[in-house]
Amino acid sequence: MKRIKRIRKKYNKKNLAIVLSATILIIIIIGAIMYTIFGKSASSYTSTIDGVEMKSFTQEVEFTTEIDYSPTKIQLIVMHEDIDVSDKLTYKEIEIKELDTYVIAYTYKEYTFEYTMKVVDMMKPVIDAQEEYYIELNTTFDFSILNIHATDNYDGTTLDISYSGDVNTSTKGSYPITVSTKDSSGNKASIDIQIIVSNTTPELPAAVIHTVSNPDDINVCIDKTHLLPDGWAPNDLVSVGGNHYLRAQAADAYNNMMAQSVLDGLHIVLVSSYRTQAYQTTLYNNYFAIDPENAPFYSAIPRSSEHELGLAIDVSYDNYLYDDLDDHAVGKWMIANAYKYGWIMSYPEDKTEVTGYMYEAWHFRYVGVELATYLTQNKITLQEYYY
Ligand code: DAL
Ligand code: ZN
Repeated sequence: MKRIKRIRKKYNKKNLAIVLSATILIIIIIGAIMYTIFGKSASSYTSTIDGVEMKSFTQEVEFTTEIDYSPTKIQLIVMHEDIDVSDKLTYKEIEIKELDTYVIAYTYKEYTFEYTMKVVDMMKPVIDAQEEYYIELNTTFDFSILNIHATDNYDGTTLDISYSGDVNTSTKGSYPITVSTKDSSGNKASIDIQIIVSNTTPELPAAVIHTVSNPDDINVCIDKTHLLPDGWAPNDLVSVGGNHYLRAQAADAYNNMMAQSVLDGLHIVLVSSYRTQAYQTTLYNNYFAIDPENAPFYSAIPRSSEHELGLAIDVSYDNYLYDDLDDHAVGKWMIANAYKYGWIMSYPEDKTEVTGYMYEAWHFRYVGVELATYLTQNKITLQEYYY
C-alpha cells in the first residue's frame, strides 16, 4: 500500500512538469505569433513626403485637368519592413473637373496613406494682345475690332474684357488704353496698349476709288480701287465645316472639289474663308502695325478683300500658308483642277503688277465654272477681264 502511494506521487509530479512546460511553450508560441502580427509589422511601416515622416498630407494644387498625383509626383515614399514599396501602392484614378477638395488613398496591404488635394485657381488669366494697334483715321472704332482675348487655366476663354481710356478716331495720335479681366476665382490681370490713329491705308485720289454696284454677283471684281459698299455682307453664307463659311454656290463648289481631291488621295486644309469687314479691318491693321510698308501688298484693306465676299478660300496641307504650295501635291492639284469647280488663283506669281498683291499660291476665288475655265486657260486675272 505504501509503495503504491509513492509511485502515484512520483507519477503526479512528472505529469505536472509536462503540463507546465507545455503551457510555457504555448505561451511562447502565442507570444511569438502576436509579436509577428501586431508588434513587429506595425512598427516597420513608414511613409514620408519629401523626407518627412507622415501618415497623411494636405496640399493646395493649381487647377489643370491633368494633375499628376502619382506617388512619385507627390514624393511619397513608403517603406515596409525596410523595403521601398512606393511603386507597389494602389490608388483610384480621379477625374478633376472643378475646384474642389479631392482625397486620394494610396494603399499597400492593410496600410493606407491619405493625400488631400485642395484644387485651387490662383493663376491670373493671360490677356493676349499686341502693344500697339493701328486704326484708320476717321473710321468708327469699337474695341471688339481689336480681337483681344483672355484665357484662364480654369475658366478657359469665357472671360469678359473691359477697356479704360478713350480713343478719338478723328484726331491722329497714340491713345493709351488699359485692358483688364478677372477670372471666376477673382484673379485679376491687366495690360496697357496703345491705339494709334493714323492713315493706315494707302492714300489714293478719291477719283480712282469706286464702290462696286453689284456686290452680290458671283463674278464681281473687287480690288484696291473697287471696293465693297461699306457694311455690305453676303446673305447666303453656309458652313463648310469648323468656323468656315462661304456663299451657298461657292460652298457647293468647294464641297465637290474637296470630295474629288480626297478621291485623288489628297488632304486639303481650309485655312481661311469668309471674313467680316470688321475682321478684315483687324487683320489689315495688325499687319500694318508690324510692317506698315508692305502690309498693303499682302493684306487687302477692309472692303476690298475677296474673303469679305464669301467667295474666297486659302488652302494648305496643314494650318499654315506657304509661298511654295505649288511645289506640293496640294498646290499642284489646285492649279490643275480648281477651275473645273469654278475657282481661279486670284494673285498669280507673274501678275503681281496687275493685282497689286504678292504671289498667293494658296488664295482661290470662286467665279463659276465657265468664267474660271476661260480665265485659267487664257491666264487672265479677273481685273484684266473687267477693268
Ligand atoms: N491676302 C488677301 C489679299 C486678302 O487679304 O484678301
Ligand atoms: Zn486669301
